[in-house]
Amino acid sequence: MNIETSSIIKTYKEKTVLHLEGKYQDLFFESGKIHGIIGPNGSGKTTLMKIMAGLVTPTAGDVLYNGQPLGQELFSQMTYSTHTPTLFSRSIYENIAYPLKIRKWEKDKIDQTVSQLLDEFEIAAIKNQSARHLSGGESQKTALARALSFSPQVLFLDEPTANIDPKSIQVIEAALKKRNVEDGLTIIIITHNLSQAFRICNHLTFLDQGSCLFSDTPEKIMVSDHPTIDEFISFNRF
Ligand SMILES: Nc1ncnc2c1ncn2[C@@H]1O[C@H](COP(=O)(O)OP(=O)(O)OP(=O)(O)O)[C@@H](O)[C@H]1O
Ligand SMILES: [Mg+2]
Repeated sequence: MNIETSSIIKTYKEKTVLHLEGKYQDLFFESGKIHGIIGPNGSGKTTLMKIMAGLVTPTAGDVLYNGQPLGQELFSQMTYSTHTPTLFSRSIYENIAYPLKIRKWEKDKIDQTVSQLLDEFEIAAIKNQSARHLSGGESQKTALARALSFSPQVLFLDEPTANIDPKSIQVIEAALKKRNVEDGLTIIIITHNLSQAFRICNHLTFLDQGSCLFSDTPEKIMVSDHPTIDEFISFNRF
């Protein structure tokens, strides 16, 4: 799904936390690509993502999805997951099966889909464990498997691999790439891990103090001569 934002402004009380203007007043997130949103703490990344996901209303500006305003039909094809996911106090299996149950999938098909996700995210051994007492990494993998279960068209991820060990990061990135390549899943991901952004993203948007300073390919950001971007990249050298 193509997502276009135009002239987005978000103000909380007196404070403007997002104000897209100038060259990057309008942003285009092309269907079937992996888009990274990067930038310092408090720059407006989560705010922009929540606006794009239809979870926060902008003070001004619009978002269009394949040229249309957001309706229930489009909203139901998008999913959102963060590094502090909310899981039910039921088993991991039940958590992943939930989106399929509410979509009234047949039991066999649910079993098959959930089993495949449990294997893919390497959490099959703990599938009957309550999601209440999981480690950070286990709950993030469960949340991601749940988000992917119904094959959404757009996946929004807010720092999905924060506090995750390198092996699990690899598992998560492989799953994201697979869905992107095989199913054309559009992914918008916020990450502080710049090497991750370069590994998986086709497009990067850089926010700083509520403004957008860059929105283009990873190759181009490497040769950006903007001092703020330059400093951010050199701090994140890997
Ligand atoms: N509900 C809210 N009410 C008031 N201010 C808010 C609200 N949500 C966010 N903000 C403010 O908006 C600014 C941008 O926040 P946002 O969460 O979008 O930043 P971020 O780029 O995601 O930061 P981080 O990297 O730390 O997650 C911050 O200064 C934050 O305090
Ligand atoms: Mg954030």
